[in-house]
Amino acid sequence: MRIIHLAKAMLIAASATLVTIPATTYANSSAIHSRMATAQPIWAKHGMVASQETLASQIGVDILKQGGNAVDAAVAVGYALAVTLPRAGNVGGGGFMMVYLADKDKTIAIDYREMAPSKAHKDMFLNENGDAVSNLSRFHGLAVGVPGTVMGLNQALNKYGTMSLKQVINPAVKLAKGGIKVTPDLAVSLNGLKKRLMKWPSTAEIFFKPDGSSYKIGEVIKQPELAHTLSLIAKNGIDGFYKGETARKITKAIQQAGGVMTQADFANYKAVERKPVSGTYRGYKVVSMPPPSSGGVHIIEILNILENFPLDVYGHNTAQTIHFMAEAMKYAYADRSKHLGDPDFYDIPVKHLTDKNYAKAIAKKIPFNKATPSAEILPASFAPYESNQTTHFSVVDKWGNAVSNTYTLNFSYGSGLVAKGTGVFLNNEMDDFSVKPGVPNGYGLIGGEANSVQPGKRPLSSMSPTIVFKDGHPVLVTGTPGGSRIITTTLQIILNVIDFKLNIAEATNAPRVHHQWFPDELRVERSLNLDTILLLKKMGYKVKVKSAMGSTQSIEITEKGLFGASDLRKSDGAAIGY
Ligand code: GLY
Repeated sequence: MRIIHLAKAMLIAASATLVTIPATTYANSSAIHSRMATAQPIWAKHGMVASQETLASQIGVDILKQGGNAVDAAVAVGYALAVTLPRAGNVGGGGFMMVYLADKDKTIAIDYREMAPSKAHKDMFLNENGDAVSNLSRFHGLAVGVPGTVMGLNQALNKYGTMSLKQVINPAVKLAKGGIKVTPDLAVSLNGLKKRLMKWPSTAEIFFKPDGSSYKIGEVIKQPELAHTLSLIAKNGIDGFYKGETARKITKAIQQAGGVMTQADFANYKAVERKPVSGTYRGYKVVSMPPPSSGGVHIIEILNILENFPLDVYGHNTAQTIHFMAEAMKYAYADRSKHLGDPDFYDIPVKHLTDKNYAKAIAKKIPFNKATPSAEILPASFAPYESNQTTHFSVVDKWGNAVSNTYTLNFSYGSGLVAKGTGVFLNNEMDDFSVKPGVPNGYGLIGGEANSVQPGKRPLSSMSPTIVFKDGHPVLVTGTPGGSRIITTTLQIILNVIDFKLNIAEATNAPRVHHQWFPDELRVERSLNLDTILLLKKMGYKVKVKSAMGSTQSIEITEKGLFGASDLRKSDGAAIGY
């Protein structure tokens, strides 16, 4: 197989005037802190946190230094980001946490995805003509799913942490009360969404000045109501959020905004421990989030397809490599649209989709040097919409435990609504359901029955917190925000490390590409080489240069210590260790 592909690589190189690169150039050029490296990761001996906001990373490292384990630190980071990165860090949203317990050699997947309220129904986002009304699923009381974050974080702490809730929440309470300095990222994101956010007086009074003007970089935003909400959680645990004052205030705000959520929906919320989805790739084991996230299933499906091609021979980010990646992505996203949803409501064919033979059959269908039109994989047509929020953090402690956590409000600042008196931004996760078969969600993704709205159901996600193992040991903890691009961005970190032997900083900085079947376009970052783009166009790709994708937060675990990289695509993140 490899020889045939090599021969084909020479042929295509000749016919497309490609420069033939010796197979070894990329394969061997990568050791950590080698002189070949074009970027260096952060190093630490004992423990490390990589997150999208520096104060939160530092809080996590402080917890590790105080003797806390990776779960204690992760929960502290999760609460801290709710204060310091209000557009994605949250207590009013939901997410997924992968926990690797070194002493048990076991990985646990905690699903704390939001749930549809009990009065939700299939047609709740359609008008009288049966057309989908995106405002209802995105910027309205109906857009809000029952938040899962507090349940998920607290459950993780109770079962796998060692510290008290007070110890891990207090740093966040202090920051909310004392105020945070407005970072460039916070200033730009608030100002950019001003119109959407100012619509809600309860949001405007916290995140904009009394005269309606925007906060500037370096000024201070205080969140006393959020401090109070966090204190109630610290004092009363999950009841401090899911019952009493906070539940009452949040459900009232949602109902006043046209929603149907009740206090009973809050009281009934449950986080679920699920069996992680796992696969192998070139001798590594990849463990990731199972449904209701599509992330793990499709990362493994794409890796299984790509295992049939010698990507290291074709080279990093060459047109040939990107072609195989894009084709594999198309098949995976086509499957996603049909087969993925909440496993408590729908039978998801995980085994089939992650089967090596299934992948081999797809690999055989992929032409060597020609893009397959998406309509030939499965017909559909619709228009995309852009959005990019969610956030990820990775933690490793001195005992070798690891946490990979991705959580979200869905859009930047979610629905935009802060529940009055709580300081809590509410998610708009209901838009991740398929509001009508064939109608795309906020990320241009389509779905069908498996992801239709039903009471108590969890909307399909792309979030992909992932841990990669070699010889039974975790070697890479990673994940990213980015909506539908989460799967492909996480995938590229794995490929960059395994196939192209890039260190984690290089793997993070490398230009990214994305194909999601529909729209039938290959999205690339502007740093991708123009020659490569031209070759891809010759193969038939509609290449679109668009904004940067993802904000990966990764830690590599090696014999030489921990190596971390916080994505420079977002300005405020940091990998910090000790
Ligand atoms: N809200 C984005 C996702 O869950 O994939």
